Amino acid sequence: MKLFLDSANLGEIKDALDGGMILGITTNPSLLAKEPKGSYLAHMETIVSLLKKDRRGLSLSVEVFSDKPNEMVKQAREFVKKLKYKNLAVKIPVSFRGQSYLGVVRQLSEDGIIVNCTACMTPLQLSMAAAAGATFVSLFYNRVRDGAKETEYEAARKEMLERKDIEPADFNPNNILREARALLAPYQKAEIIAGSIRSVLDVKEAGLAGAHIVTASFKTTKATLAHFKTDHAVGNFLKDFQKWIE
Ligand code: E4P
Repeated sequence: MKLFLDSANLGEIKDALDGGMILGITTNPSLLAKEPKGSYLAHMETIVSLLKKDRRGLSLSVEVFSDKPNEMVKQAREFVKKLKYKNLAVKIPVSFRGQSYLGVVRQLSEDGIIVNCTACMTPLQLSMAAAAGATFVSLFYNRVRDGAKETEYEAARKEMLERKDIEPADFNPNNILREARALLAPYQKAEIIAGSIRSVLDVKEAGLAGAHIVTASFKTTKATLAHFKTDHAVGNFLKDFQKWIE
């Protein structure tokens, strides 16, 4: 399992790269909206410059901000042209209000653009995105769980369950990951990213359930490495050595 950082914050990105904790970065328009107002592309260019300075060529996912397929294709091409970054993945949502975006995924993939098909909530969405050519397919781990209990979606949930579009186990993200790995077996190049991660235990469970990559906030990413007994052991080594050389 690889750990990515889910952030558009330049300070966090720099610290996570310097700390050697992450092997890629995912962003989305909501994460960018937490940053000071400015140009979307200029901000992404700064992230690319940090990645270039890092020199490992880590993956960066940048999302389109349109619901129209032709606009998405245009934006994706512009990202590729302006950002000039070999490991740039363009994030395309799997669908929106009944409209499929897998045609966009296929078109961009055929053009040689790396696609991260995002906002997936079911094993079938993940496997269809991979079949359409996506290199990365993103499952929103905790948002799936939220979907089982949010009262505002009670009617939609009931309708999907009654129509047998989903079953109760489809609200368990670990189950989704296990099933998706089986369904994705023919699409060797596709990697599952588990996003919408809220704790260190989510990172571990998503990885064990089959996510190739887990993308988490800076806080969670940092917390994966912290342990009070590690601090105790390292503190003692330093203290004992200091006593010995004095
Ligand atoms: C993943 O690619 C998304 O950026 C992200 O993890 C969304 O999750 P959240 O908004 O529920 O945290």
